[in-house]
Amino acid sequence: MRYEDGTAYDKEHAGNIYYRLWFEMVEHYLEIHLPDSGMVLDAGGGTGEFTFRAADLRPKISLVNFDISQGMLNTAEDKIAELNLGSRVRNQQGDIMNMPFESGAFDYVMCLGDAFSFCPDVSKAFSELARVTSDNGLFHLSVNSFWGNYAAMISKGPDLGFSFNDVISYYKTRIIQQKGISTHCRSFTYRELKEMGEKNGLKIVKAFSSPVLPAHKDWLSDKEKYKEILALQYEHCEQQNLLEYGNHLNIIYSR
Ligand SMILES: C[S@@+](CC[C@H](N)C(=O)[O-])C[C@H]1O[C@@H](n2cnc3c(N)ncnc32)[C@H](O)[C@@H]1O
Repeated sequence: MRYEDGTAYDKEHAGNIYYRLWFEMVEHYLEIHLPDSGMVLDAGGGTGEFTFRAADLRPKISLVNFDISQGMLNTAEDKIAELNLGSRVRNQQGDIMNMPFESGAFDYVMCLGDAFSFCPDVSKAFSELARVTSDNGLFHLSVNSFWGNYAAMISKGPDLGFSFNDVISYYKTRIIQQKGISTHCRSFTYRELKEMGEKNGLKIVKAFSSPVLPAHKDWLSDKEKYKEILALQYEHCEQQNLLEYGNHLNIIYSR
């Protein structure tokens, strides 16, 4: 799951260096915030990329990789067997908006990579994610940043495959559409995420953007430049005035 130089590796996204940066930054924060033991939920975990990363980082935790798509879970199931993690990791199918878990069942709840953004009722999804987080636990949410994506879309437009109408529609609805077709993926502002937390009795303990600064793929593909860019990301990714201009807003909440 790692490059020879020890940095994060993801088979499916290895071809996309930008994803590598994103995964690596999220993993860096998981390394800091995951509990040493207890139960971890990867809500909308898909093929389990972050489930497996977390299992690797903390040998004493147990994890549930939870997703609505049985197809994604089937891939995760193969990986559990391949990595011999059957005693600590299990898959479960279901909907984030109505989870079959007891309140406070998890010490760390992560909902990363837009799973939350695809939920049609985000208030319900948020209250469920907050409900299953234990009193001393943390809830780590990662979503598309509204302003970061708007800045990228309006400045690069057709280079990224967006028409002007797509950008205006995104501005009005917060849902990314491409060539008039909705991706159903909603983006959020920091303020919205803060308010959702407050409504559910949660406060923000850490906020960062991954990545926070744009970078050209050719420079990211250069090993030395990649390291420098990563260092710059860590220097600025928690900076309040830059946060919203990043790609993904990551918020870690506690009670
Ligand atoms: C872009 S993938 C991200 C997967 C993983 N979290 C990651 O970052 O690699 C989004 C995942 O959310 C899942 N998903 C979407 N809506 C969901 C819902 N209401 N309940 C559970 N999972 C959902 C999808 O099936 C998909 O696996």
